[in-house]
Amino acid sequence: MQVHKLLTRSFILNNVVITGANRGIGLALVNAFIAKDFNVYALCRRSSTELDATKAKVITEIDVTSEQGLLAMKVNLQDLSIDILINNAGILRSNTLSELNPETILEQFKVNAMAPLLVVDQLKSQLATPAKIALISSRMGSISDNSSGGAYGYRMSKSALNAAGMSLAKDLASLQISVGIYHPGWVQTDMVNHSGDISATDAAVKLCDLIIEQNMSNTGSFTHSNGQNLPW
Ligand SMILES: NC(=O)c1ccc[n+]([C@@H]2O[C@H](COP(=O)([O-])OP(=O)(O)OC[C@H]3O[C@@H](n4cnc5c(N)ncnc54)[C@H](OP(=O)(O)O)[C@@H]3O)[C@@H](O)[C@H]2O)c1
Repeated sequence: MQVHKLLTRSFILNNVVITGANRGIGLALVNAFIAKDFNVYALCRRSSTELDATKAKVITEIDVTSEQGLLAMKVNLQDLSIDILINNAGILRSNTLSELNPETILEQFKVNAMAPLLVVDQLKSQLATPAKIALISSRMGSISDNSSGGAYGYRMSKSALNAAGMSLAKDLASLQISVGIYHPGWVQTDMVNHSGDISATDAAVKLCDLIIEQNMSNTGSFTHSNGQNLPW
């Protein structure tokens, strides 16, 4: 009975934590995981009517770049065994070569690269065995795939996130924690003024399936939501 309970527990995924869950891809991920009967813990700075209408447990005032936000996250989730941790929160600011702004480059680095690493650091002791970490990165973080230049802060921050993801994959492998680095596609959200070619719902459903399938054999992969393996 005890053995059966242990085995069942280790193969059933239950608890998913998602950052930046109040809108865009984060909100769509909340809905995608709820549709598959996961318990979703939706972290955000401020909730939204759409998020409040879901079955997720909503945890507000979680700015992933602030010490208080990370501490509040830890306190709110302290009794939780986390099966899937999704670092989704991100920002895009314009940085052309003719209009470089060091402040917004740093801001993007803090939100897109540093914060996901600090979130993992805060929550790593609560990750189940096995567990999955998903980093919502961007194809724009690929150095070899850069065909259009520009977007300095965004590209630099997502490349840095990819580097952190690979180190996490190596460092957490012995704990059976896999790490997936994902490009959601060009998605119709506020970030791109809804100019994308795929809806947040469609992107999130694909990401949800990929994250559920993620395991130790593909840890450290950089994957498009369409399943394509992306170059670094
Ligand atoms: N849309 C695309 O085409 C695309 C393509 C490639 C990658 N991505 C990546 O996908 C992820 C989601 O993007 P999206 O398109 O859904 O963008 P979005 O609609 O602009 O949503 C961004 C989310 O991140 C949250 N966020 C930003 N800064 C935060 C902070 N300091 N602390 C906590 N939450 C913060 C926002 O919360 P607030 O409401 O409080 O601002 C919001 O929930 C990002 O990592 C982005 O880089 C998007």
